[in-house]
Amino acid sequence: MQFEIWTKALAELSIDCVAVGVHDDGELTPDAKTLDLRCREKLSRLVKRGDFTAKLGETWLVTDLEGIEAERVLLVGVGAKGELARKAWRRSVSAAIGAATRTRVTSLALALPRPTVKLLSDERLGRAVAELTGASLYRVNDLKSTKKPRATALSRIVVAASAKAAQAVMKGCSQGAALAGGAALMRNLANLPGNVCTPTYLGKVAQDLAKTHKSLKVKVLGLAEIKREKMGCFLAVTQGSEEPPRFLVIEHRHPKAKGAPVVLVGKGITFDTGGISLKDPPLMDEMKFDMSGAACVIGTMNTVAELNLPLNVIGLVASCENMPDGRAIKPGDIVTSALGLTVEILNTDAEGRLILCDALNYARRFKPAVVIDMATLTGAIVVALGTHHTGVFANDDALARELVDCGAVVDDRAWHMPLTEEYGEQLKSNFADMANVAGRDGGSITAAAFLSKFTQGLTWAHLDIAGTAYQGGAAKGSTGRPSAMLLEFLLRRATAH
Ligand code: BES
Ligand code: MN
Ligand code: ZN
Repeated sequence: MQFEIWTKALAELSIDCVAVGVHDDGELTPDAKTLDLRCREKLSRLVKRGDFTAKLGETWLVTDLEGIEAERVLLVGVGAKGELARKAWRRSVSAAIGAATRTRVTSLALALPRPTVKLLSDERLGRAVAELTGASLYRVNDLKSTKKPRATALSRIVVAASAKAAQAVMKGCSQGAALAGGAALMRNLANLPGNVCTPTYLGKVAQDLAKTHKSLKVKVLGLAEIKREKMGCFLAVTQGSEEPPRFLVIEHRHPKAKGAPVVLVGKGITFDTGGISLKDPPLMDEMKFDMSGAACVIGTMNTVAELNLPLNVIGLVASCENMPDGRAIKPGDIVTSALGLTVEILNTDAEGRLILCDALNYARRFKPAVVIDMATLTGAIVVALGTHHTGVFANDDALARELVDCGAVVDDRAWHMPLTEEYGEQLKSNFADMANVAGRDGGSITAAAFLSKFTQGLTWAHLDIAGTAYQGGAAKGSTGRPSAMLLEFLLRRATAH
């Protein structure tokens, strides 16, 4: 997709289609009014007739208007008058792009009213346009044998902006295009079934990234190397599976980067049956998404490399299956983590924290400025926050606040959860340094408390994405979250240093 900026009169823009806004009371937005005057008020007459109700996100295509260079005008419902909310703006942009992709339009200009610069900076506006474009054009990578629908014709998006904003909007568009690419990679990986997307497969994908991006160095550890690292908790989870495990180290180094690296850690359970503490059959297929954290790390490393961010970023992925088997771990088994702490595995379905604790320990060797792990870790976070907010836990309040703020400004929202000592105390075991579970109450917090025992001395945050990384139901599939939040976080770090 090609992105451009148009700073001149809208009626002079020679293009397949120009999208303008109409409020839900039928009033044309300023850009729509300008076009309306050029075409002898055909647009306002059309709206008055009432065929187009101009509800938020509704669209209406008009062709062959005299006096306007563009071949088509797309009317888009943008909601109520007054200060336009970011959410409504996103909805109207998506609606415009979505409508265009259902036609033969190859080039689309967006002249929709925008939220104030305070709510959405020029750069973030450009980023969001490209991000939403990518999301609109994304097609689920299904394995259906029937013919695929024709690819959309849309290949050029022109954003109407002031000359003053042009440069920042354009910069944002490049960020958004890279973000969309990374999110699409995440979604494709997460959508793949467990029999295709194995730990070995993830390792190959990571190695392919290093072939396309000069800044990336990739190392893939196999079973022998994982044993050498003494990752006893990770090894305990993988021992019940025929599929070999993989531990991925993806490094992006930039010559201008100052300071310690940001380390991203992803949970890569390519299928979670629960192990001997077997899960119930309903919805168990969705446990193929249990590698969403890993997929997000891989996608984000792709974005970081694509943008060649002046920052050192390291992606770590611990990947294996969680299976019941003759060799699988049993409730009551005690294993030793790479850090040396012993863990009594009371529930084999609490496997995510077991692979993550060894990955977090591995992060230490990079002397990181900050470590952020992401994991579809608990059903309890879905009970607590539903599917709208990612749960943020941290041993550093400023870091948690920063992540929540990053999520808020890019509409990839997150909520700061508590993580005080009492929760960690609930993990007491009679036989080992700690147990891997602590009962039902506050389940997402005790899971985070387990991880916190391995992150002492690190500035660390944990994102529980079990509710946000994928959707169930009719639109089942990966959402690409929290890629946008992470990119905002990394961009801030890249400009601050
Ligand atoms: N992968 C699951 C968490 C999960 C559940 C993600 C539902 C998405 C939707 C995780 O490995 C798990 O099974 N967690 C257990 C922990 C429990 C045994 C303490 C859970 O949430 O039930
Ligand atoms: Mn589990
Ligand atoms: Zn799991």
